[in-house]
Amino acid sequence: MAEPIISFNDVSKAFTTRKGRLVAVDGVSLDIRDGEIFGVIGYSGAGKSTLVRLINALETADSGSIRVLGQEVTALPERELNKLRSKIGMIFQQFNLFASKTVLANVAYPLKLAKTPKAERLAKARELLDFVGIADKADAYPAQLSGGQKQRVGIARALAADPRILLADEATSALDPETTRDVLDLLRRVNKDLGVTLVLITHAMEVVQYICDRVAVMEDGKVVEAGQTYDVFAAPTAATTRRFINTALHDRPSPDTVARLRESYPGRLVHVRMKDSGAGFALSKATSGLNVAATIVYGAITEVEERPFGAVTLELVGEDGAVGQVLERLAAGGSHVTDLGTAAAPLEDPTWRELVTAS
Ligand SMILES: Nc1ncnc2c1ncn2[C@@H]1O[C@H](COP(=O)(O)OP(=O)(O)O)[C@@H](O)[C@H]1O
Ligand SMILES: [Mg+2]
Repeated sequence: MAEPIISFNDVSKAFTTRKGRLVAVDGVSLDIRDGEIFGVIGYSGAGKSTLVRLINALETADSGSIRVLGQEVTALPERELNKLRSKIGMIFQQFNLFASKTVLANVAYPLKLAKTPKAERLAKARELLDFVGIADKADAYPAQLSGGQKQRVGIARALAADPRILLADEATSALDPETTRDVLDLLRRVNKDLGVTLVLITHAMEVVQYICDRVAVMEDGKVVEAGQTYDVFAAPTAATTRRFINTALHDRPSPDTVARLRESYPGRLVHVRMKDSGAGFALSKATSGLNVAATIVYGAITEVEERPFGAVTLELVGEDGAVGQVLERLAAGGSHVTDLGTAAAPLEDPTWRELVTAS
């Protein structure tokens, strides 16, 4: 397999603050592959921004190795670093545009720094504005633009130097949900059409669900979980990850909701995360040949990584043995099953307590 485009090996970074030494990044090892969209999710203060800033050496590591595009960042002299930085674009939550420059001048600015001839850099900037869908705003000033348009300018500017990698630090966090989708669709085109590797920092699991191929979950400077986005959604191992997933899917009924559901659905309630073939198919396979009626009573079929994913609560009605067989089949098919019992013999959802407990 090809060398990862970005590789962290046991990287740590601490800051000295008034309260003492603060370890922002703590022994992180991580590989990011060429051409993928990689998400880093975590709560505020988890160390995400510090981690991305280590990639282009805006921060320097205390220990460990960071390889980017085949070079050891921690050992590069400033001159070489600048060369490397030109291959890494970056976009931000607050856009960081020059208020006094036009949109076109903002986008052309990195090329001006690189001493690209004027006609060439303006032509490139127009081409990029066309790519991000705001060619008509070339002569406008940032203050005249909506948030989504500003971020499009930010993306166009970050692409001016034809980067191999684009770092996005909470790039959609200041945008409403609909605009967020539009900007994520654009970032997907940046990845697919231009072949740019994306590293996407976010605290919103919806963003990961929508666009990331793989994801790392950070907590207290450490990576507590990493993997293919779909697999992480289907079988999260860290409590923090489960909390994030619940915010994206709103899939798990609260104890109050379960109590209400039991009034209408006295049968066996089970919470199921269903993989791959889609929930409907998984369900018909699990109940096939058995005298069990299954009803979806809560949750939704949604998409993760553009693949169907079901996170639902079912009522299963049938003989105990048959219902047990359905549960076994679901689990064997890769679904994660939580038994909530029946109205007559209820079981508590052990995950719920974990979801509402602050980290
Ligand atoms: N330049 C700095 N000086 C001191 N502390 C910092 C600095 N940058 C970040 N930190 C601290 O490091 C921790 C991680 O910060 P950060 O990487 O920004 O997290 P995130 O992006 O996940 O919110 C936080 O506790 C933050 O206060
Ligand atoms: Mg941050």
